[in-house]
Amino acid sequence: MTIFVTGGAGYIGSHVVIELLEQGHNVVVADNFSNSKRGVIERICRLAGREFPFYEMDIRDADGLGRIFSEYRIDSIIHLAGLKAVGESVSKPLEYYANNLESTMVLIDAMKTHNVKKFIFSSSATVYSADNEMPLTEESRTGGCTNPYGWTKFMCEQILCDYANAANGCAVVLLRYFNPIGAHPSGLIGEDPQDIPNNLMPYIAQTAAGRLPFLSVFGDDYDTPDGTCVRDYIHVSDLAAGHVAAIKHLDSNSGVSVFNLGTGKGVSVLEFVAAFEEATGVSIPKKTAGRRSGDLPLQCASTEKAKRELGWEAKRTLYDACVDTWRWQKGID
Ligand code: NAD
Ligand code: WQD
Repeated sequence: MTIFVTGGAGYIGSHVVIELLEQGHNVVVADNFSNSKRGVIERICRLAGREFPFYEMDIRDADGLGRIFSEYRIDSIIHLAGLKAVGESVSKPLEYYANNLESTMVLIDAMKTHNVKKFIFSSSATVYSADNEMPLTEESRTGGCTNPYGWTKFMCEQILCDYANAANGCAVVLLRYFNPIGAHPSGLIGEDPQDIPNNLMPYIAQTAAGRLPFLSVFGDDYDTPDGTCVRDYIHVSDLAAGHVAAIKHLDSNSGVSVFNLGTGKGVSVLEFVAAFEEATGVSIPKKTAGRRSGDLPLQCASTEKAKRELGWEAKRTLYDACVDTWRWQKGID
C-alpha cells in the first residue's frame, strides 16, 4: 500500500514524508518546488535511509496525476500542496483560489477515477471564526475568514465533505494545524522563508542570526496575561506524527473526521521570546509595535478528540522547537 503525498518538499510535507518512511510506509511524493528546494528530497532520503519515487509537477496537472495513479497502487492521499502566505493571499486572491481549490479538486477527481478511498487534508486553525470560546474544539464555529487563504481552506474542507457524502465508503480526515514551528532534530530540514518572514518563529530565528535587526512585537495591550497575543505552537515533528496517526484512523473509519493538531497550551509572544533566548543563549532585540491587523488575542486548541480518537498527542516542548530551529538556522546561514 502506498501513500501519495503532495507538497512533500515543503516545510511540513518534508517532515511528514520522513515520519511515514520511518514508520515503514511506502510513499510517492509530488511537488512543483514553487515554495521549496530540490535538495530537500535528497535530504529526506538520507535521513530516512530509504529512497522513494518523486515527481516534480503541479498537482493541477490531471494527466500527470493519472499516470502516477495508474503506475502505483495508491491507497491514500495526504494533500499538503498549496499556497499559504496570509498577506500574499490578500494581494493575489485569484492565485490562491486557483492553486488551492483546483489542486484539491483535480486530486479528488483522480481519486475517484482510480478508486482511492482515503484522503487527509492539511487544513488550518484559521478556518475557525473569531467569535469562539477557547480552547477551540472541532465543533467550534468555522467561517468568517479574514483573508483569501483562510477561505481556500474553508472551501476545500466543504468540497471534501460534499465529496465524501456523495462517494460510497470514502474516508476523509481534515487536520486543522495550529501554529507549526521547529525543525528536524538533525538540523537538515526546516523552514527557510525566501522573503522577510511573517511568522514569529522564523522572524525570531533570523533576528538571532543577525539577518534582521529586531523583532517587532505586534501589540502589548491585548486582554491577555502579559498583553501580547497567545497562540498554540506545535513542533513540526509532532505534527508529522499526527499524520501517521490519521493514516491509521482511516483504516477503520469512513466519512469525514476533523482533528485539531495542537498542544492545548497557549504561549504569549513574550513567553515565546523568553523560551527562545533560554534555549539558545542568544538574546533577541525587540520593540513593541502596533497591533497587526487581523490578529486574534488568543487562539488555542482543544486536543481531547485527537488524544481520544487518534491516540496522538504532542510530545515535544517549545524549548525543543527553539533548540531545533536554531540548529537548522545556523546551518543555513
Ligand atoms: P510550504 O509552502 O513549505 O509547502 C507547500 C508545498 O507545496 C511547497 O513545497 C510548494 O512548492 C508545494 N506546492 C504548492 N502548490 C503546488 C502545486 N499546485 N503543485 C505542486 N506543489 C505545490 O508550506 P507548509 O508550511 O509546509 O504547509 C503545508 C500545508 O499545510 C499547506 O497546505 C498549508 O496551507 C498548510 N498549513 C500550514 C500552516 C503553517 O503555519 N505552516 C498552518 C496550517 C496549515
Ligand atoms: C504569531 C504571533 C503575531 C510576527 C499564521 C496564519 C495561520 C497559520 C499559522 C496557516 C501573533 C506575533 C508575529 C512578528 C509578532 N498558517 N508576531 N511579530 O498569525 O497565529 O498564524 O500562521 O494556516 O493561518 O495566520 O502566526 O507566527 O504570524 O504570529 O509579534 O514579527 O506572533 O502578532 O500574535 P499566526 P504568526
